[in-house]
Amino acid sequence: MPFPVLDFLAEAAERAERALQVSLPAAEQLPERLHQAMRYSVLGGGKRLRPALVYAAGKALNAPPELLDPPAAAVEIIHAYSLIHDDLPAMDNDELRRGKPTCHIAFGEAEAILAGDALQALAFEVLASASGLWPAKAQLAMLRLLASACGSRGMAGGQAIDLAAVGQTLTLNELERMHRYKTGELIRASVLLGALAAGVPESSQEYAALDRYGRELGFAFQIHDDILDVLGTTEVLGKPQGSDLARGKPTYPALVGIEESRRLTQQHLAAAIDALAEFDHQADTLRGLAHYVAERES
Ligand code: IPE
Ligand code: IPE
Ligand code: MG
Ligand code: MG
Ligand code: MG
Repeated sequence: MPFPVLDFLAEAAERAERALQVSLPAAEQLPERLHQAMRYSVLGGGKRLRPALVYAAGKALNAPPELLDPPAAAVEIIHAYSLIHDDLPAMDNDELRRGKPTCHIAFGEAEAILAGDALQALAFEVLASASGLWPAKAQLAMLRLLASACGSRGMAGGQAIDLAAVGQTLTLNELERMHRYKTGELIRASVLLGALAAGVPESSQEYAALDRYGRELGFAFQIHDDILDVLGTTEVLGKPQGSDLARGKPTYPALVGIEESRRLTQQHLAAAIDALAEFDHQADTLRGLAHYVAERES
């Protein structure tokens, strides 16, 4: 793994942590337990890949990082909410997340459901409250993009397909759709939020290229997540290894095997990097993050 990318990820994680800290209600504020559960699940953990993609897309377009903090925080807050609900007994029923007990284990199921609900609302509040940073048109486009990425044709829709498919064998096309929805759309949105915050219009060629990069990267990310569920360790992953197999989840390794899953990850990684052909060296961080996504061990 090239060091500059790991350095960038560490810096982005630190910056995102600060943005998240100021976005979250204090633990002492009523209702305390709900705010504690929200802070527990958002702060101090995770790779912060989605904020890193917001910052890296902004960097590729020479945007000052101050413009990128609200979307970086918003997308990570949505992600944290999705993880809380993903781990619930009614969904994947997992007890370990980011190396600690899942939200429902630490706070109870009702509080975990509400923490997810409240985080989803908070993400939009964070984006909508930032004033004077971007033209209103760009801000609206960001809100619309994030909403569609986490709705029924994005993350929530992908999760519905995932749950309906337990114990079934999906076709390759169906599995691809599920992965693109449940994970790909939010990763794509992270990249495009960076572009919109940087002032790039939706109708531009740069936006279209980043759209392609984000789609390919998001898809590669979830195939690799499936591979890690087979080949990783609980200790390094910080979440239970083998959870997919135990629950009869449709995954790429289960459908096409590890070698073909690896080949597909590499193919989509190459396509992601190819999408950046017209960008100069300022996009090297995005290129490096694509390699990171396909090579990470957690
Ligand atoms: C895990 O995402 C959930 C999926 C979408 C597969 P990450 O692997 O980005 O989790 P954190 O944020 O680093 O914990
Ligand atoms: C979850 O996919 C995607 C989300 C929307 C959270 P997984 O169920 O594979 O994520 P992990 O492996 O539990 O992190
Ligand atoms: Mg799941
Ligand atoms: Mg899961
Ligand atoms: Mg997984």
